[in-house]
Formats: sequence, structure tokens, C-alpha cells
Amino acid sequence: MNKTNKFLSSVEAHQKSKTKEKFKGTLKDYLEILEINSDAAALAHKRLYDILINYGITRMDEANSRCYKLFGANNIKTYNYFQESFFGMERSISKIMRFLHSASMKGEESRQVLLLLGPVGAGKSALVEHIKKALESTDDFYHIEKCPIREEPLHLIPRKLRAEFEEVYNIKIEGDLCPVCRHRLLEEYDGDYTKIPIVTSTFSIRGRRGVGVVPPMDPNTQDTSVLIGSEDISKMDLYPEDDPRVLSLNGAFNVGNRGIVEFVEVFKNEIEFLHTMITATQEKSVPSPGKQAMIYFDGVIISHCNEAEWNKFKSEHTNEAILDRIVRVNVPYCLEYSEEVKIYKKLLGTSDFDYHIAPHTLEIASMFAVLTRLKPTNKVDALTKMKIYNGAEIIEKGIIKKIDIKDLREEVREEGMTGISTRFIMKAIDNALADSDKNMITPISIRDSLIKQVKEQIVNEEDRKKYLLYLQSTLHEEYLKILEKEITKAFVSAYEEQAESLFNNYLDHAEAYVNATTVKDRITNEEMDADEVFLSSIEEQIGIKGTAKDNFRADITSYMFAKLRRQETIDWRSYGPLREAIENKLVASVKDISRIVTKSKSRDNKQQKKHGEMVKTLIKNYGYNENSAEEVIKFAANNLWRDS
Ligand SMILES: Nc1ncnc2c1ncn2[C@@H]1O[C@H](COP(=O)(O)OP(=O)(O)O)[C@@H](O)[C@H]1O
Ligand SMILES: [Mg+2]
Repeated sequence: MNKTNKFLSSVEAHQKSKTKEKFKGTLKDYLEILEINSDAAALAHKRLYDILINYGITRMDEANSRCYKLFGANNIKTYNYFQESFFGMERSISKIMRFLHSASMKGEESRQVLLLLGPVGAGKSALVEHIKKALESTDDFYHIEKCPIREEPLHLIPRKLRAEFEEVYNIKIEGDLCPVCRHRLLEEYDGDYTKIPIVTSTFSIRGRRGVGVVPPMDPNTQDTSVLIGSEDISKMDLYPEDDPRVLSLNGAFNVGNRGIVEFVEVFKNEIEFLHTMITATQEKSVPSPGKQAMIYFDGVIISHCNEAEWNKFKSEHTNEAILDRIVRVNVPYCLEYSEEVKIYKKLLGTSDFDYHIAPHTLEIASMFAVLTRLKPTNKVDALTKMKIYNGAEIIEKGIIKKIDIKDLREEVREEGMTGISTRFIMKAIDNALADSDKNMITPISIRDSLIKQVKEQIVNEEDRKKYLLYLQSTLHEEYLKILEKEITKAFVSAYEEQAESLFNNYLDHAEAYVNATTVKDRITNEEMDADEVFLSSIEEQIGIKGTAKDNFRADITSYMFAKLRRQETIDWRSYGPLREAIENKLVASVKDISRIVTKSKSRDNKQQKKHGEMVKTLIKNYGYNENSAEEVIKFAANNLWRDS
């Protein structure tokens, strides 16, 4: 009962809010509104741009390392409206926003079609859907009452007065009355345009108010009425020929007037369709069904398609006129795996399964997805390129390798337009889940599922071989490394503290070595020389031997002191190569015990206890559950520590 009462009060509030007084006035009232807020008469591009901008802009600055990596510059804008639900797409989104911005200032873009071009599952439809939703969340817009295309009330102002109006209000009037309103004005209001009622509406996707959608159609049944409406045969007998009352202005351009018209998979449509689209942008008007004059149209036209369709269309030179009216924005797949992970988290968040996802599962799946999307380079192997794109520093023999992400990017054109789609991965996740009797997915099961799916679905022999290699070898190795570190962390009690203390000791001794001074022991306060054995034991973890050690120690010392001078805090993770050495050292320190304890057969009581503690830590600190911890430990026992 309680629940019902609570809900009913929401129902009541909702009904009250709906009966909230709606605006109804005349031209005079509208003019008064415009005096205060000229944006009420904004054209579609500006309206949409303002709505999106209203959610706020965040400036990514130097502190955000993704900034430089993404754009090769600092102080980049990202748009809050998209931040929560779109990942790794900042570049496409900023191009879309740039288009809208220019169009909102009535630049050439306001007479162009925006085309989102990208592979299946790259998020084109989702992006357009999200943009359309923005309209729904906005304030009402003003239009002439009973106008089938909800036109701008300023169309009522006669040509003769427009110059004066524009000067007084600083608003430019575009377009003339639609045939239906013109007819009403003459017949019902005796030509007195100050009497015609003006009302407001909300944008609604489902209500087809201000948002029109043109789905791809079978060429045989294609009919321009989908775009521009038709003449209603049932009314033809009632009215004389040419009477606008026979018009059913319910085509996508009629419906989408003032807002957005979306063309789904645009180049699947007949060329005649596209000509209507081009007229609508170029001339800002669409034909009326029957014999009426053209009808003014004001809306943002957004289309999308994949590359194959685009290439086919582009190759026909008769289409040049159309190409000229298109602003293309590539929407490639995401190429940063940690952003890709967020996509799956989002998609999984919407289904209401109750299941467990073991750590690194989505990471491995995302790494695979990104690997298939990258183009090869001579500079680094695929896995390394994937890591660089994700913002990692690449360390080789104790040195941070200077490979600039910009160079890698510029080497190839149109990267991310091929490879595995988000849907492919989602299907593999679903299958892995369906096959699990423990209601979980792990990096191990997702990999198996992906392998199966590649074998079943990738027909191109070359791709198939490459993909299987990624899964069976590249990512197998990569996952083992990740797992080894994680198990070590679970073994080494107070891992962070131990790492920190190795770091501090290393710095003390390296500094003493470099400056030929002594070190004060942190516990005994005794002065002593740099401990060569200790220093080497760290350095050998990343293959630094012989004379290379001098440079390494000098580099680290100056790096850290430069940071300190800038009052930045330093810790054991501050310098990539040293961090790796410390991690390896800790891994090595528990290697033997790891090997024994993970193997279930050989555990004695004490080891059993150690094993139990490790499992507990994996669950408590690293996000495993009983089952997944058991599974990865078994996997580690079978695959790690074999040769030692
Ligand atoms: N970069 C991304 N960020 C967020 N979601 C994404 C991204 N790429 C794809 N998706 C999601 O994947 C799904 C498939 O995308 P969709 O819009 O249908 O692709 P397209 O229209 O390009 O074929 C959608 O649910 C979408 O939200
Ligand atoms: Mg789509």
C-alpha cells in the first residue's frame, strides 16, 4: 500500500505539472518575448548548439595526460553533455560541435548536411540519438498554432515590415508562411496576421515534433512522401484542387522542421531522395506535395553511413553536387582500451543480469578489440602501439622510449575504421556468461569465447590468423604478466609499503653513489657507502648492467630532484623504469612461494594457510570473488612459473 501511495503522489505531481499553463498569445505577445530573449527565435542550428553547450564545457588541461595524446595540444574543450556516455570519441564529438558552432553563426555549414561516417557499432546511431534527446530536454519553442510544420511565428511579418523589424530587434527573419498557414490567415483571420494564435510545443522524438527520421528504404517502395508528406486522398473531394487543406505535411522534413532530420544509412536511399535532402540544405526549402509552392525548412540534417556505402557513392561522379554539400566527420572505433572498457561497463550496466566480472576481463576484451583496429607500423609492435595509444610510457632497458603518439597517428590515415566492433565483443561476453556455470566471466573465459567467435565468424583468412594470434599468444602473455603482478601483490603483505621503502632506499643509495657521498641508514643512523649489491639487485630487474647503471642512477637522481624542486610529490610510481624494477623485484621475491602455493597438489598446512590468505586478499582488495580467484590461481599455476 505504501509503495502505491508514494507512486500515486508522483502521478499527481506529474499531472499537475502537465496542466501547467501553456503559453497562448498573439504576435504582440511574441514580440514582447523576443524583446527580452531574442534566442526564442533562434534557428535550428543555433538552438541545438546552445542546448548542447549549456551542459557545460570542460577544458582538458595539461594535467590530463589524455589531452596531449588526443589532440596534440593543451587546453582542449570537451563537451559535458557527451562525457557520461561516450568514450574515446572526443575528437569526433569536437568536430561535430565545430560544425554546429559555425552553422549556428549562419556560416556555410548551416547549409550543409552533417555526415557521420564510420564502421558498424562505432556509436553513430547512439550519438545521433543522444543529440536528439538533448532537444527533448529543452524549453518549449514558439510556433503558429495548428501549423503542421510548427513554423516560426515571425513568418507572419510581411515583407514590407521586415527591414524595420530586423533593425529594431536585431533578428533576421528567414522564410515565409507555409501554404497551410497562409490559407488560414486569409480564410479564418481575414489576412490579419496579428490575430493568429501563437503557441508553444516541446520537441519529442516519439511524438514526431521537431525530430524527423528517415530510415533506409527498399528502393522499390521508396516514395518522397516519406520526406515531404502527401496529399490526403480522402480530403480531395472536400476541397478544391490546390487547396492546402488536402495536404498531409507529415514527412520527415515537415516533422523535423525547427529541430533535426536524421537520415539513417543515408546512401542506401535513391538518388532522388538525396536531391530533396540537398535542396533542403542548400535552399532551405522542400517541395510541397501537389502543386503548392516550396515550403521553407529550418533544421539540422544529420546523416550516417558506413565506409563501403560512402566509397560506392563517392565513386560515382554524378554525385559530385551532393558531395559538395556534405560535411563529413569520421566516427572511428575507440582506440584507447581503457576508454573501450568504459563502453562495455556502460552497455553491461543496462542489462539486469546478476553476475560477476573478474578483474581485467573487460580490459583483455578491449585490448583485443583495439588490437584488431590498429594499422601496423614499423616503429613498434602492435601491442606496444596499443599501449602507447592508451597513454603508456614504453620502457626498454631502463629508458623511457621516445615514441611520440603523434608520429604514430600521422603515419596512418583513417585508423579505427576497420576491425572488431563493440557488438562482436558484447556477443562474446554474453556467450561466455551463458557458458559459465558459476555465473561469472573471467579473462580466461572471455578469451576462450573470443577465440571461438573469431573461428566462427571471421571469414577473411588473413584477419582470422592475425586475430587468433592476438588472442592465443599476444594477449595470453600480456594477461599472464598482469596476473603475476596481481598475485604478487596479494602475496606480499603491505605491498605498497614495501614498494615505497625499496624506492626510498634506492634513491638514497643512488644519490650517494652519484655524488660520491655516504648514506645515513634510516634505522641505525650509521653513515655508510652506497650499497652496490642492493642497487644492482634492483637494476638487474630491468636488465641494466655494467656501465649503463651510471647513467640510470644519474637520470633518476636528477629526475626526482627536479620534481622535488617543483614541489611535486614523488613516490615509487613516479619514474616508469624504476617502478617496473621495483615491481619485478617484489614479484621475484615471492616467486618460489607463489609457485608452490598456487599448485593445489603440493600444499602443506602452512602453505594452505598462506593460500587462504592470498585468496582473501584477492577478494578483499582486488575485486575477485571466491570462484574467480580460484580460477585465476589455477590458471597461474598451470601457466606461470613453469620454467623456474
Ligand atoms: N565510443 C563509444 N562510447 C560509448 N558507447 C559506444 C561507443 N561506441 C559504441 N558504443 C555503443 O555501442 C553500441 C552500438 O553502437 P551504434 O550506435 O549502434 O553504432 P553504429 O550506429 O555506428 O553502427 C551502442 O549502444 C553505443 O552506445
Ligand atoms: Mg547505426
